[in-house]
Amino acid sequence: MCGIFGASAVDNVIPQLMTGLGDLEYRGYDSAGLGALKNGRIVRRRAQGPLASLAQLLETEPLSAGTAIGHTRWATHGEPRRHNAHPHATARVAVVHNGIVENHAELRAELEAKGAQFRSDTDSEVVAWLLDRELAGGAPPLRALRRVLPRLRGSYALGIVCAGYDERVFAARRGSPLAVARAGRAAWLASDAEALGRVAHEMVLLEDGQLAELRPGKVRVFEESLQEIEPCWRRIETSGGVLDRGQHATFTHKEIYEQPEILEQALAEFRADLAAGRAARWCGPLWRAKRIVAVACGTSYYAAQTARTWLERVAQIPVDLELGSEFQTRQPILAEGTVALLVSQSGETADTLAALRYLRSREVPTVALVNVHASTMAMEADAVLSCRAGREVGVASTKAFTAQLFALAAASIAIRKLRGNASPTELDELLATLSRVPDAVRGAIELEDSCASVGRKLAKAQQVIYLGRGASYPLALEGALKLKELSYVHAEGFAAGELKHGPLALIERGTPVIVVAPSDATFNKTLSNVREVIARGGEPVLVGDPHTASIAKRDGLPCIATPAIDSLWAPLVMAVPLQMLAYHAACEGDRDVDRPRNLAKSVTVE
Ligand code: G6P
Repeated sequence: MCGIFGASAVDNVIPQLMTGLGDLEYRGYDSAGLGALKNGRIVRRRAQGPLASLAQLLETEPLSAGTAIGHTRWATHGEPRRHNAHPHATARVAVVHNGIVENHAELRAELEAKGAQFRSDTDSEVVAWLLDRELAGGAPPLRALRRVLPRLRGSYALGIVCAGYDERVFAARRGSPLAVARAGRAAWLASDAEALGRVAHEMVLLEDGQLAELRPGKVRVFEESLQEIEPCWRRIETSGGVLDRGQHATFTHKEIYEQPEILEQALAEFRADLAAGRAARWCGPLWRAKRIVAVACGTSYYAAQTARTWLERVAQIPVDLELGSEFQTRQPILAEGTVALLVSQSGETADTLAALRYLRSREVPTVALVNVHASTMAMEADAVLSCRAGREVGVASTKAFTAQLFALAAASIAIRKLRGNASPTELDELLATLSRVPDAVRGAIELEDSCASVGRKLAKAQQVIYLGRGASYPLALEGALKLKELSYVHAEGFAAGELKHGPLALIERGTPVIVVAPSDATFNKTLSNVREVIARGGEPVLVGDPHTASIAKRDGLPCIATPAIDSLWAPLVMAVPLQMLAYHAACEGDRDVDRPRNLAKSVTVE
């Protein structure tokens, strides 16, 4: 995580750096800082807290420079305080870093023994001091980097300026994303390609082990050996979505509201592709899989878990599910004929990316379902599927989740078609029921008032339990995650059938229990669990469809009921009220909904 942005230009670049850092703030907002070259010397401005604090500092201590690097931090090593804010600097060099230097303690001890005076608690500062020693010994910056980089264990994307080297910014990448670009009399670097879209049309996504040197209007790329290479320029493709909240109070609210349209558009594309015999666009090599191993983290994991039902039931392929962070540790057995499905909004999540690389090393074909196309996973996977959500700004995923669900629902139907084991009527039926999803989601959004009134109550609870069965179980997990992330209220999701095996002990008089219960084959069993909750004083709220509502009315239970939808695709619709419950609980608690504390949108450290 952490976002870095830098430039070498003839004119002042500080305003563009501040805008660029704003675009990257989703990667962390614990502190922000700038480092610039002024008359050959390093000047810094750093502030604790979000970028707005740095902007405020610049009002009292203005800065103008053509060569500068900037950083927005998500704290890993060292508290989120000013002295830990990047850039870290000595008199000779300033460094911004995204990643983790795993051997920082040994390096720090070694450097301190040689007289280095560390001023932060971060792992990153060792990079500044290692470079400082090399520069002091007379090495020019690229050669200094060449010596220092092999000493770093872990991951890095680095932006560097060196005293005496005006108009030059240096960059290096291993494990953390970094893109460089040029335009007119300027050259730029940033943690994501999209952030460069405001200042350039073309960029190079650096590969692991590559270094770059930026000068006004010029970018040179090198292998770690300093062998210069011809960079591979690509057009900067932004995933759309203007960075504007419109009428909405927050980006998260806007993104929740965008869902019907996103799904409608994706559906239209899917229908057109199916009709034109382009089903493979929606599933890549998954259709030939004997077994699928799906790997993801966070909300993307719950999307994969929800979609397992579809991949097994509709596509008829067995699916193993793995958390990115556990995958490598477990080193699961990968049966012959396995195809891997990596699900990630950002395409950068370090654990999922590590899994992708491991799978490739084991010669398992990889398919990445991503929302960000200029991402490392999109670059490294054998095939890429698009989740078509457009840019998502809110740190907690909402529209990307339902777009992932849609993409996976479509993949299941596409696989079924390509395998030729469904009759045209069956396929028509699947498509007809899926086609009702966008309208049902639109109807679900209209439930905002009832969600708000329940959400306000959840904000005051000590804990909230979420229950679901079958395809609703991963939704219960996602609903609980959303509440935790956005409102900081402790919430846990459980498989409804597991309630009696432990979680029931958590229920006290007044404990809110959100029960995801669309009227599917599991409905009656879930209803029995609701009664168990009531018997212990818990206060269930059902989330379901019109049938759920009629039972709830009969039994005098509160219910949030979406429009009717085929139970197979119900998760796509039920997700919406869960998002809105969490959203309104967060608003009631006066939380920073778009940027929950301690979190970041793109988690590029393991
Ligand atoms: C972070 C984000 C989550 C996201 C998860 C996985 O924790 O805050 O919203 O679900 O990373 O990210 P990915 O980009 O791989 O989907």
